[in-house]
Amino acid sequence: MAQGITDDAEVAEVPAPREPAPNRSQPAAIEATNLRKVYKAANGQPAKEALKSLNLSIPRGSFFGLLGPNGAGKSTFINILAGLVMKTSGSATIWGFDTDVNPRQARASIGIVPQELNIDPFFTPYEAMELQAGLYGVPKSERRTMEILQAMGLDDKADAYARTLSGGMRRRLLVAKAMVHNPPILVLDEPTAGVDIELRRQLWEHIEELHARGTTVVLTTHYLEEAQALCDQIAIINHGEVVACESTPDLLARIDEKRVVIRPASPLSAVPASLSSRGALLRENGELALVYNPDVDSMSALLADITAAGIEIADLTTEEAALEDVFLQLTSGK
Ligand SMILES: Nc1ncnc2c1ncn2[C@@H]1O[C@H](COP(=O)(O)OP(=O)(O)OP(=O)(O)O)[C@@H](O)[C@H]1O
Ligand SMILES: [Mg+2]
Repeated sequence: MAQGITDDAEVAEVPAPREPAPNRSQPAAIEATNLRKVYKAANGQPAKEALKSLNLSIPRGSFFGLLGPNGAGKSTFINILAGLVMKTSGSATIWGFDTDVNPRQARASIGIVPQELNIDPFFTPYEAMELQAGLYGVPKSERRTMEILQAMGLDDKADAYARTLSGGMRRRLLVAKAMVHNPPILVLDEPTAGVDIELRRQLWEHIEELHARGTTVVLTTHYLEEAQALCDQIAIINHGEVVACESTPDLLARIDEKRVVIRPASPLSAVPASLSSRGALLRENGELALVYNPDVDSMSALLADITAAGIEIADLTTEEAALEDVFLQLTSGK
């Protein structure tokens, strides 16, 4: 590219980039500013403020988790981005395009896999993909229908009626449809609900591959282990507000507690009273779990307390805090 090259010797020493410089100075993949949504009262149901004043910035290139309990507002947010739900106020940009000012460019920059399994039963997967490509104005010569169906493990179902597909296959067809226009952002609202373990693994393999090739991935899931393993950044939404937005390790570091798990030599019928202040819990499998904060507690003192309670230790393990602990701490009881 000749663009940017000048006669100035000092400047010319710096080679002009062949591609536009990635990331950093560019706008976020998705940015929400004071986004609010109130669903109007209808059918005897009162009005519902699903999003209060949501502020969120999802960086380009990230694998971003959007977590929150049922009804937190995750799908409302995603459906606003998809143009399926009208926001009440605030603004959203997708790949730098304001959804009000440049709705077409904004829509072309994002592929969304909705939570609802809304598949037209009268089209075959092949036809559904072609239709979707047509809607997005993808020229015939640039369509990759069979390639995408193959990647989603649906090539042998390309000509089957959609109504004969299983739930997991329908979900994979929705993922395939979201990719027809090759968008730089892929948003998946509960993509693995109802998908069996093996297919989940395959689905993630494929999505991780897309991410490795540069696609920004945004995902909601109730499988917290999945989010912990896949996402480099996580936002937790509760009651229509962002209550945390951090890198996954930072979020996990919020809980510095560990658990010490004891297998007693002889079974316990109850937690000894002397250990109740240690947050002791008797598990169904007979193990005794105690909360332990490495910064504050001394392991020797903890072990001495256990011995003093008359428990002989047959085995001992420690457990790190999991995303579930952080999630529960941030969302429960509020
Ligand atoms: N079309 C609608 N009309 C009225 N209220 C709605 C509508 N859609 C969602 N809501 C309400 O808005 C709130 C947020 O719902 P939303 O579907 O965004 O939550 P979510 O975080 O996606 O939950 P889940 O984890 O269950 O999918 C809920 O209280 C829900 O009942
Ligand atoms: Mg939802």
